[in-house]
This record gives sequence, structure tokens and C-alpha cells, in this order.
Amino acid sequence: MKLITILGARPQFIKAAAVSRALRDEHKGTIDEIIVHTGQHYDQNMSGVFFEELDIPKPGFNLEVSGGSHGAMTGRMLEGVEKVLLQEKPDWVLIYGDTNSTLAGALAAAKLHIPVAHVEAGLRSFNMRMPEEINRILSDRISTLLFCPTDAAVANLKHEGIVDSVHNIGDVMYDVALFYRERARKQSTSLRDLGLTEGEFALATCHRAENTDDPERLGAIIGALAEIATQLPVILPLHPRTRKLLADYGMNQKLGGIRLTDPLPFLDMVALEQAARLVLTDSGGVQKEAFFYGVPCITMREETEWVETVEAGANQLVGASRDAILNAFEIAMRQGQPNIKAMPYGQGDAAVRIANLIAQH
Ligand code: UD1
Repeated sequence: MKLITILGARPQFIKAAAVSRALRDEHKGTIDEIIVHTGQHYDQNMSGVFFEELDIPKPGFNLEVSGGSHGAMTGRMLEGVEKVLLQEKPDWVLIYGDTNSTLAGALAAAKLHIPVAHVEAGLRSFNMRMPEEINRILSDRISTLLFCPTDAAVANLKHEGIVDSVHNIGDVMYDVALFYRERARKQSTSLRDLGLTEGEFALATCHRAENTDDPERLGAIIGALAEIATQLPVILPLHPRTRKLLADYGMNQKLGGIRLTDPLPFLDMVALEQAARLVLTDSGGVQKEAFFYGVPCITMREETEWVETVEAGANQLVGASRDAILNAFEIAMRQGQPNIKAMPYGQGDAAVRIANLIAQH
């Protein structure tokens, strides 16, 4: 069987690492995977380093599509993916998550009547102003096999009338967390390099369009982080989008004591997440990694797809108001480590289950 995996953005490299390893380990000789990199993320520290560190097979194709408006980017990807699919004639196309690369892959395949398998199906924020929400709803609608990470995701699909070939296989990010947690602790020198002490710093990330594209929201987030930095070191690995917009808005002088770094390699990020006193983020993946490692999280968004983290009392959803972020910070400092009783994200075997289900079809 020939399988084409479409990916392009940082979180997809991480998830694909787990599934690609399961395909190689469990189905060598029966499933032949070819990776297509759309080029959406292209910097060495947003892309190349992940392929090296996570042992992901070299892409068979790189479409080199990046930047531009959503329509232009998605359109160019659609055209590029279609060409590859016409040439390679795969039996299945595998897509991940909710980025423009996901939608382009799903659309190109569905129009050629090639079945699509979607990892992270069924997640919803119920906020149609997010590009990710549009991408995931449309991708789910035209996918054949839907791999949900949670019961909530299965229920969301059911609500939209999608019930066939829906599987709750757990979250591949949990597989990844289990696989790399020790390796990150042993191999990463980031804690030492940054002069940090375990349990005595906050780790922050901010890249979502709804935060970065609105100067008021970005200003409030930076203001809150700068205030926190007067009490506890704050490390902020900067996504290229955020770096550019901070400069465009003239906000660099508002950073105060916040310590900026370039985007971090995966093992360094995982090492810092495990050692942090708390995490502040607008990323989906980072919210869950904090949860897996038992670190309190503050999510700087109005809604989350990972509702289980909030229900477990491990994640405070506060939006982008300075006061709400600072209030949540005080609560997190007072409460300390969350007491997580049950794991809602599977058994850490999601990747193997995905590989097996694809093989069965
Ligand atoms: C994308 C996804 C988002 C995901 C995020 C993970 C969409 C709609 N959004 O957002 O769901 O959470 O990836 O990071 O697909 N850039 C660089 N170097 C890079 C990559 C990007 O400079 O290696 C620049 C781009 O040129 C662009 C900006 O950063 O100006 C934003 O990149 P883009 O791919 O549009 O979206 P992300 O914010 O990364």
C-alpha cells in the first residue's frame, strides 16, 4: 500500500514522527510512506531541526510554499499536492491537525477520490474566526478515516453527523511525550544554557493569529508577561510571526525582563516544559504537554479544544486580558502542581493504532 503523508507546520512534524515510526516498525514492507512537506514552515529551527531530532524520514517532495495570504498559500499548496498525487497515485493520504497544509492535503486528495485519514479529527473551538477551526471542520468533512484523540472529539463529529469510521485512538502527542520525556531530560542542556533553576521559571509561548494580529491583545499579553517577569524569570521562545509583529507594532521596548529565545528544538522545549514552575501559552500542543508533565498551565485564549485539561483543574482559560492573566498567575503560584487523577488522552499507543487501522483499510 502506498501512503502519502502531507505536513508542513511544526506541530505536524512532531505528530508525524510518532506515526511514521509506528508505520516503519509495525508495517515495514506492507505500507510504503512518502512524506510531502508543503514548505509552510521552512526555517531550520521551525522545520529542519525536527526532522533531525525526531528521526523523521526525509520528505520525498518539498513544495516550498510559504507565506502570503491564507488563500494564496492554501491555493498554491493545493496545486502542488495535486501534482504529487497524480504522479504517485497513493492508496491513502494522511493529514494532521488543522493548518493550511492539512486543508490543502485533504482537498487535493478528496477531489481525486483518494481516501483521506485525518489525525486529530473532531477537535473544535467553536470559534469560526480562527483559521484552524475552518481548516479542521472542512478536513473532517471530506476525510474517510477519522482518528479522534478524545471522547469530546468523537461527540463533536457526531453532532455534525459524522459517525462512520470514527475512532478514538487517544492522542499521538501523549505517545510523543512518553517517548521523549526522559531523553529530553538527559540530552537537553537548555536549562543550564539559560541559567535556569528547576521549578523557578515560567515558560511562555504566543503565536496564534487571534493574539498576534491584534495589537491590543498582544500588548496585554506582553504587559502581563513583563509583570510576571518582575517576580519569576519568564522564557519566551519567539515564533517568527510574533517576532515580526512585535517589531511592526513597536512593542519591543515593552518586553521588560522577559527573556526571548529563538524557537527551540523539540527536546529543549520538552526539557523546559518539565522543569517550569508554570506554562503560559496559546498553543494547543503546549497546553497538553504541560498537562502530561503535571505543570500548571494558563491558556491565553477564550476557548480551548483540549477541554479535558481545564476540567481536570490543570489549565486556566483566561483570554488575553492583562488582569486575567495576572490573576491566574497568582492562583497557579498558590495552588502548585495540579493533581491529575485520570489520563483522558489514551494509553500512549495512538500511533500504533493509527498505523494498524490504516493497514486494515
Ligand atoms: C501555523 C498554523 C497554526 C499552528 C502553527 C504552529 C495555519 C493557518 N496556522 O501558524 O495552526 O498552530 O502553524 O506553529 O496553518 N515563518 C517564518 N519561518 C518559518 C515559518 C513561518 O518566518 O519557518 C513566518 C511566515 O513566513 C509567516 C509567519 O511566520 O509570515 C506565520 O507563518 P504561517 O505558516 O502563516 O502561520 P503560523 O503562525 O506558523
